[in-house]
Amino acid sequence: MDFSYASSFSLIFLAFCFSSLSTTATARGGERSSDFSGYLDHNLAYSTRKLSEDKQSATGVDVARGYMTNVELEKAVEQFGRRCSHISRFYSIGKSVEGVPLWVMEISDKPGQQEAEPAFKFIGNVHGDEPVGRELLLLLANWLCDNYMKNPLATLIIKNVHLHILPTMNPDGFSLRRRGNANDVDLNRDFPDQFFPLNDDLDSRQPETKAIMSWLKERRFTGSASLHGGALVANYPWDGSQDKRKQYYACPDDKAFRYMASVYSRSHFNMSLSKEFDGGITNGAFWYPIYGGMQDWNYIHAGCFELTLEISDVKWPNADELPVLWEFNRMSMLNLVASFVKTGIHGKTFSSDNGQPLPASITIKGINYTVKADGSFGDYHRMLAPGESYEVMVTMPGYQSKSTHILLEDEAMSVDFVLDPEDDLQMHLQPRSSCNDNHKLELLKIFGKIHLEIPLVAAFILAFLCFLLKRKPIVNLLKNRQLAGQKRPAAV
Ligand SMILES: *[C@@H]1O[C@H](CO)[C@@H](O)[C@H](O)[C@H]1NC(C)=O
Ligand SMILES: *[C@@H]1O[C@H](CO)[C@@H](O)[C@H](O)[C@H]1NC(C)=O
Ligand SMILES: [Zn+2]
Repeated sequence: MDFSYASSFSLIFLAFCFSSLSTTATARGGERSSDFSGYLDHNLAYSTRKLSEDKQSATGVDVARGYMTNVELEKAVEQFGRRCSHISRFYSIGKSVEGVPLWVMEISDKPGQQEAEPAFKFIGNVHGDEPVGRELLLLLANWLCDNYMKNPLATLIIKNVHLHILPTMNPDGFSLRRRGNANDVDLNRDFPDQFFPLNDDLDSRQPETKAIMSWLKERRFTGSASLHGGALVANYPWDGSQDKRKQYYACPDDKAFRYMASVYSRSHFNMSLSKEFDGGITNGAFWYPIYGGMQDWNYIHAGCFELTLEISDVKWPNADELPVLWEFNRMSMLNLVASFVKTGIHGKTFSSDNGQPLPASITIKGINYTVKADGSFGDYHRMLAPGESYEVMVTMPGYQSKSTHILLEDEAMSVDFVLDPEDDLQMHLQPRSSCNDNHKLELLKIFGKIHLEIPLVAAFILAFLCFLLKRKPIVNLLKNRQLAGQKRPAAV
């Protein structure tokens, strides 16, 4: 048939459709140039206040001086919750062996609500004797609160991400000043492992580990970072290798992880200048293999891309170094979270039948990993290294699969999919009375008769898509190049 005829039809509809959309579209990456604007404002009110308080009430144990105790940490979380209730809420995901609640601060413009946005988590103090992270995470929360609607990066994160912060996963280990928890178990060896079933006995798993595992069952996270100390490097999966040898052991998303780790190290004061680690990043198994770690488990079982960040050469530095460590790591933490909005592909998957969101599976050709769209909103978020082209494939039982080629540049791309039910091909012959789109059926039948299927069906589907898009508040960045890729499969 006449494909140029079809495509000119398509163009007219696209032009019509997106000229009206462009007014409501918001750029995902538009605030890039201002990323570093907050870098020099030395807003250290929180740490300095804490330091002077603690100096007066020093406990005699020098090493702990200036660090919040578990009770003080709990108070700081509560205080933050009161002061910043407009952008946060806090909740506990369980208790440590000694019964200390594991508090999480959720930061978002709509805390506690479900939105079609990526979620990111920070987990501090996995090892009890690596306490820098728990301090920096409180500083991060307060900085975001203070800079919301003032600093573009803070605003971008609060508006477009649900950020969950668990300052300490191991409060008992912290008060004992040792690596393991109260049962002296290393929590970063306590997760189920892909290669060795050494941790498969659920009953012997630690309460802190169980709390994390059930947290991730209830909630979808797109990205994550756990904070450690004792080195200066951003570590990415896999952490273990099949044959237990120390070697580079790449996971399917090696490129995306290298990108994420580099975002952290390059935004850091001097992590990327490391002499030990090229670019300040490392594959876990290449550094030293571990088994039962949290990072690999996140990626395999929770659809969550997690890094393990070693943020200070000294595990437990003097507290008066905390303000500097915060300055060194602040842009890294912010840019890593923001990369889950500014990079990768994002979109929604709907049914063409009734416009309902679908929990479809998104895969990338050549990458053996599946990301699931959300059941209630149909949104998906897929971290991918920029500067590459990808073939995105979408599948959903009962629907025809779709795929599209994209060229992902530095900015995030929005790619929505409208999937046709598997029996759609028979619609000409057997109109279903349950279908909402009676008009569509009628039109299809008429067009079928006058033998203009290809251009007109294409035009119709575009018009229908246009209708769908207009009905839903779409705030994604919609670039013309993306649209071409996005529409093509929908019109086939
Ligand atoms: C980074 O800077 C700190 C503080 O000046 C220094 O102690 C550390 O050795 C530096 N690390 C690298 C990798 O340059
Ligand atoms: C893909 O990954 C799964 C584990 O997630 C594995 O069982 C399967 O063999 C892999 N497939 C290929 C083609 O590598
Ligand atoms: Zn550690």
